[in-house]
Amino acid sequence: MSEANRNISILCIGAGYVGGPTMAVIASKCPDVKVTVVDINPERIARWNSDHLPIYEPGLDDVVRSARGRNLFFGTDIVAGIQEADIIFVSVNTPTKMFGTGNGMAADLQYWEKTARQIRECARTPKIVVEKSTLPVKTAQAMKRILDAGNHQNRFTVLSNPEFLAEGSAVNDLENPDRVLIGSDATSEGLAARKKLVDIYARWVSRDRILTTNIWSSELSKLVSNAFLAQRISSINAISALCEKTDADISEVSKAVGMDSRLGSKFLNASIGFGGSCFKKDILNLVYLCRYYNLHEVADYWEGVVRINEYQKERFVVNMLGNMFQTLSGKKICLLGFAFKAHTGDTRESPGIFIARRLMEEQAELIVTDPEAIENARQDLAGAQGNIRYTEDPYEAADGSDAIALITEWPQYASLDFERIFRSMVQPAFIFDGRNILDHQRLYEIGFNVFPIGKPALTHFHDEPDMTA
Ligand code: NAD
Ligand code: UGA
Repeated sequence: MSEANRNISILCIGAGYVGGPTMAVIASKCPDVKVTVVDINPERIARWNSDHLPIYEPGLDDVVRSARGRNLFFGTDIVAGIQEADIIFVSVNTPTKMFGTGNGMAADLQYWEKTARQIRECARTPKIVVEKSTLPVKTAQAMKRILDAGNHQNRFTVLSNPEFLAEGSAVNDLENPDRVLIGSDATSEGLAARKKLVDIYARWVSRDRILTTNIWSSELSKLVSNAFLAQRISSINAISALCEKTDADISEVSKAVGMDSRLGSKFLNASIGFGGSCFKKDILNLVYLCRYYNLHEVADYWEGVVRINEYQKERFVVNMLGNMFQTLSGKKICLLGFAFKAHTGDTRESPGIFIARRLMEEQAELIVTDPEAIENARQDLAGAQGNIRYTEDPYEAADGSDAIALITEWPQYASLDFERIFRSMVQPAFIFDGRNILDHQRLYEIGFNVFPIGKPALTHFHDEPDMTA
């Protein structure tokens, strides 16, 4: 590490799912670097300063506790933070724009732009400004134009350093990243700034995993990584629909395909569809960019990934309705899990939200259970018309229900006492495994009618015509 990097001061604007964990890990790995995280949301900051962090991430409590008050600080004084910092990470939210041009597709850059203007207004010394948020390619140019506008003596150097952590494994992803990507201009200031950031990560990441590129490649690679990951899920989900028509088994297909080392086995689990705050918004952002550049065929191709995801969620509900005698009205349905994936309390874009709303349209009564996401589930479904109850206890949730819909792949759900659950349910009892994590044969033997994703259903109804005869 270069001596110049000792005693530097880092600021992160945006104390969310990315800003909080990323800065906590930098602070824990670089005890001599002062790391301050600021946010406009004082409640969020208060929670970062408490024993009850605003996000649930395995291992995060320990990392925060090890550095907080030593060289990691959470606060709301953004102006002072900007003035003190040498390096400023911008990690504010960049949701899908929901108005005007690009409505429902483009990235909403208002939070990001406010931050850029605030940095320009408050800075008194040169700063390295790092794009941590996921942004459309070419945003660094706009960032630089905003920072350089007007009469001031400060020099700003913009870097792109997108984040690849996944929720539920954020601490491990940050401590052992596949790669750290840093994009810069090829100017002497750009290269010097890049070196400063490389030196920080190099404290715990081996150099061969720190990839430096031009700034546009860095911005675009983030969108493309998410698009490729989501594309794999939509590909396997699309094939799951075909499996259900042909008695092929999606787990077997996925294994057979994934054993080809050119393809690899990860991200081939069929599901009720991908959720999370980023996949959909980042693909739509990519689609919007392609349309902006008149690349309509490319845009259509990527838009298909999102369309299949919507189809998969709807298919799950239609399947429930069809198999429960075409009516869900007044039936009790237990949603087993609500987070968009296991090991997080985050419910942003969770397929559970769509499924819950659609089931309520069918006048079903819902009981939602999740070990970490109940607080968020309540907010997501506040105002929805219908009868919904919440409990952290899965047995209480299943008690008296007609069907269980497994939404989140929490590992503890695989080892529930399903005999006890079966006895407490209305008969005939249905289980729809939206993640294929349960032992379907065993459930069938207990007496459930079992509907996995992309596999033959196991039912006790023997009066159906044999369609394969
Ligand atoms: P988030 O909504 O959890 O956090 C963003 C924070 O920024 C909020 O707390 C908000 O109050 C704050 N903020 C907004 N405007 C501000 C301003 N002007 N000044 C100070 N604070 C402000 O979002 P997130 O999930 O952390 O995502 C942040 C960015 O990182 C997004 O661009 C996202 O696409 C990207 N990203 C997210 C993940 C993830 O797993 N969530 C992973 C990789 C990249
Ligand atoms: C994803 C990427 O994995 C991260 O690299 C990226 O940084 C992040 O988005 C982001 O930019 O926000 P995340 O959304 O936290 O991370 O979680 P993933 O593990 O990617 O899962 C996303 C969704 O896909 C979840 O709903 C998950 O259940 C679903 N999924 C995942 C499947 O349905 N099948 C799979 O095989 C894998």
